[in-house]
Amino acid sequence: MQSPVIPPDQWLNSLHWRYATKRFDPSRRIDAETWGKIEQSLVLTPSSFGLQPWKFIVISSQEIKDQLPAISWGQSQPKDCSHMVVFASLQELTVDHVDHFLENISRVRSVPLSSLEGYRKVIMGFMDATRGQHAVWSAHQAYIALGQLMATAAALRIDACPMEGIVPAKYDELLGLAGGPYATRVGCALGYRHTDDGYAMNAKVRFASDEVIVRL
Ligand SMILES: Cc1cc2nc3c(=O)[nH]c(=O)nc-3n(C[C@H](O)[C@H](O)[C@H](O)COP(=O)(O)O)c2cc1C
Repeated sequence: MQSPVIPPDQWLNSLHWRYATKRFDPSRRIDAETWGKIEQSLVLTPSSFGLQPWKFIVISSQEIKDQLPAISWGQSQPKDCSHMVVFASLQELTVDHVDHFLENISRVRSVPLSSLEGYRKVIMGFMDATRGQHAVWSAHQAYIALGQLMATAAALRIDACPMEGIVPAKYDELLGLAGGPYATRVGCALGYRHTDDGYAMNAKVRFASDEVIVRL
């Protein structure tokens, strides 16, 4: 058995330390090296069948960030943060996407495509059985990436605010996604908390473990 890379209490401390940041310090930026690790953490997100039906749009341009509060319920986090990540996912799962995914497995693992034929059939079966529901399915996958991003950020002592308070159709327009295969689902602003953000001091409000964890 491998020992933990982070003592369990330190990991929990990170989860207590994080909070949905309401006010970012606009003068502080995440350095390029740390940001690179955060991107790798996004890419490593697991997904159903491994299909990765997403694009992670990383906005660091101040010019673009300045346009976001107007399409984010007036919230300032997308403007003042260091990096805003927009999670877009496939509207529809396509044969092209599945084949692109299988070709990647074949290349990375040096196995012939023909050996993946059985797996391809299973995925195609899923694709056909869930027609009309792909957008919801792919959004679920995007939220797994959001969770992984928030936990990674907390461990690295980067502040974050997950954001559903955005107008997805307006984001699609601004980011050039409209009419394409991917659509905006949710966002996450990342950076450093402003010293004046009083929310940082709020006690965490969660239901008691015994209320939400059912032990059988
Ligand atoms: C999917 C999701 C969407 C959220 N959208 C917003 C948002 O648009 N603006 C905001 O200030 N907080 C947003 N929140 C933050 C939640 O209100 C916050 O996580 C929750 O109240 C728990 O507080 P904590 O994260 O500070 O522990 C969102 C959280 C999640 C998970």
